[in-house]
Amino acid sequence: MFLYLLGLLALWLAYRWYKEAKRVPNEQERYVYVTGCDSGFGHLLARHLDELGFRVIAGCYTEKGEDALREASSTRLTAARLDVSDSESVRQVADLIKTLVGEKGLWAVVNNAGVSLPSGPTDWLTIEDYKGMLAVNLGGVIDVTLSVLQLVKRARGRVVNVSSVFGRISPFGGPYCVSKYGVEAFSDSLRLNMAPFGIKVACIEPGFFSTNVTSTDLVQNNVKQLWDRLPQEMKEDYGQDFLAETLQGVDARFEQLIDKDLMKVVSCMEHAIAAVHPRTRYSPGWDAKFFWLPLSYMPTCITDRIFIRNTPKPKASVL
Ligand SMILES: NC(=O)c1ccc[n+]([C@@H]2O[C@H](COP(=O)([O-])OP(=O)(O)OC[C@H]3O[C@@H](n4cnc5c(N)ncnc54)[C@H](OP(=O)(O)O)[C@@H]3O)[C@@H](O)[C@H]2O)c1
Repeated sequence: MFLYLLGLLALWLAYRWYKEAKRVPNEQERYVYVTGCDSGFGHLLARHLDELGFRVIAGCYTEKGEDALREASSTRLTAARLDVSDSESVRQVADLIKTLVGEKGLWAVVNNAGVSLPSGPTDWLTIEDYKGMLAVNLGGVIDVTLSVLQLVKRARGRVVNVSSVFGRISPFGGPYCVSKYGVEAFSDSLRLNMAPFGIKVACIEPGFFSTNVTSTDLVQNNVKQLWDRLPQEMKEDYGQDFLAETLQGVDARFEQLIDKDLMKVVSCMEHAIAAVHPRTRYSPGWDAKFFWLPLSYMPTCITDRIFIRNTPKPKASVL
């Protein structure tokens, strides 16, 4: 019986591998729009797709990022300045794309641009902190998608949204998880609404990878800045030990979890764009697959206990 089940599993895995290995033809005729190409996953993806022969339109936040990408790519790639939180900038790039793609339409849009700071305990943050990050991580995803959706329809193409495993579970405060839960919800409704038009929607949900978003220095500086601006009464609630333990925790946890192989994420993005049968969700990273995702399916009383036990306690804690 056990061998029989093992055989069935092997057969199913072989079938899945065969089905997922097929790629769409004629990359040279397919346009792919990627946001946030200055650094990290976006930069690597733009170069990787360019090498594969796709026609990449790369949105870069800075002139420096734009120049660096142009230098590293073929003349097929078009780089454009893009601030996803500014609707005028989003519209200008959409107009450029319209003229580039013509009747063929846009094969894929990859909403990759994102920020992770400020992050900290919820009561350390202001509504402006929330608005700023939501404008990039969620508003930007929605605005960019809507700006080119008609062109994606024309190509019966794809929308690939870079969420995070923290769009499935929320172990720390601040707007990051809120924004990524929003990206998941937007992707789910978009997938249902666009299915009749032949558009496929995929979510990439990486664990911890080594990019600016997870830079220990940047994260620790952000914690210190948030602490410095707290009113004295709140500092007393938390106590200096809380600050020290939090800073130490960033070092220890990031060292444990961070994966340096960014290609694990880029390969998932590439599969979502180029496979004939893309998946709906990709969870690159061992921590995502074997820790965060299983945890996200557990009852809240268990996950709460795990997180509370493993995070520093404020001085005024009653727990
Ligand atoms: N690294 C991880 O562990 C991890 C895990 C899960 C999900 N993610 C997600 O993966 C995506 C890519 O992040 P990454 O890890 O590759 O970090 P990254 O290197 O910081 O990439 C983010 C990119 O977005 C750009 N950007 C920032 N604000 C923008 C704006 N308003 N308009 C347009 N572009 C903007 C950044 O430009 P500048 O470099 O010029 O600021 C940068 O090129 C993000 O959505 C992030 O949330 C990352």
